[in-house]
Amino acid sequence: MKNEVHVFAPATVANVACGFDTLGFAIHRPGDDVIVRFSNSPGLTIKTITGDGGKLPLEAEKNTAGVAAKALMEDLGVVRGIEMEIHKGIPIGSGMGSSACSAVAGAFAVNELMGKPLKKKELLPYALKGEAIASGGAIHADNVGPCLLGGMILIRSNKDLDTIDIPVPSSLYAAVVLPELQILTVDARNILPKEISMKDGITQWGNLGGMIAGLMKSDYQLVSRSLQDVIAEPKRAELIPGFYQVKQEALNAGALGCSISGAGPAIFALCEGDECAFKVGIRMQQAFLENGIQAERFISPINTLGVQRIK
Ligand code: HSE
Repeated sequence: MKNEVHVFAPATVANVACGFDTLGFAIHRPGDDVIVRFSNSPGLTIKTITGDGGKLPLEAEKNTAGVAAKALMEDLGVVRGIEMEIHKGIPIGSGMGSSACSAVAGAFAVNELMGKPLKKKELLPYALKGEAIASGGAIHADNVGPCLLGGMILIRSNKDLDTIDIPVPSSLYAAVVLPELQILTVDARNILPKEISMKDGITQWGNLGGMIAGLMKSDYQLVSRSLQDVIAEPKRAELIPGFYQVKQEALNAGALGCSISGAGPAIFALCEGDECAFKVGIRMQQAFLENGIQAERFISPINTLGVQRIK
């Protein structure tokens, strides 16, 4: 058994427009690094957190990575002490799966340190437990699933954790643009309607079915027609100044579709090919600037690996 393990977990885009709480994909960058090693203090100790601007708690019981790692340690009956370092690469409240990412990295790192007693997929409930404390207790695996497993993941049931890896065309790229704004998932969930109309339901599940079929058939036009959200986007757009301008610029530059990444404020666009994604990303970033908001840009194919051990 190695004495130290270093893992990298990637950012994710949840919802993918039409799949609220049921669809998400991983990108290559940014991501969180977590390092764990055996220690002489019993239980789990979080020694350091960097990149969080001092916002995240060191108490393992209040920290997403800590909760996930501790739950796994308890179930595995780990008697040795473990210490953890968390290096955040994904800003908190970005809509890029920051809390899910740390939770996945925490559980995955402990499992690696213990000699991999569980398979990747079996770590899902532990990572979800960690993420639940950041999302006000709501259980949705649309960030945790793709962060852990990689690829485009459909969560058929969040209750049963029935996850399906949807094959995607290799030339599918995402442009993700993160404005300098912060939205907490809890707040972005609270503004959503508790009920939806039959009309919106029919539109949404038609699009989700179309999206899955389009990805599996490499039918970019079908993907494009399906990249629509009539449920969360209209409400959440109010939290992101310039949203509709950014979206229009992405579409004008050739994106297949564009919507809010997870709970926002990051906005993603899907594109055919990297050239298109670079162009789209730049135009989206410029549109934010025109609204007086600085934004960061990430261009990536779908990351099919998910969390990885680095050392
Ligand atoms: N599906 C979730 C939401 C992702 O949109 O609220 C954010 O955690």
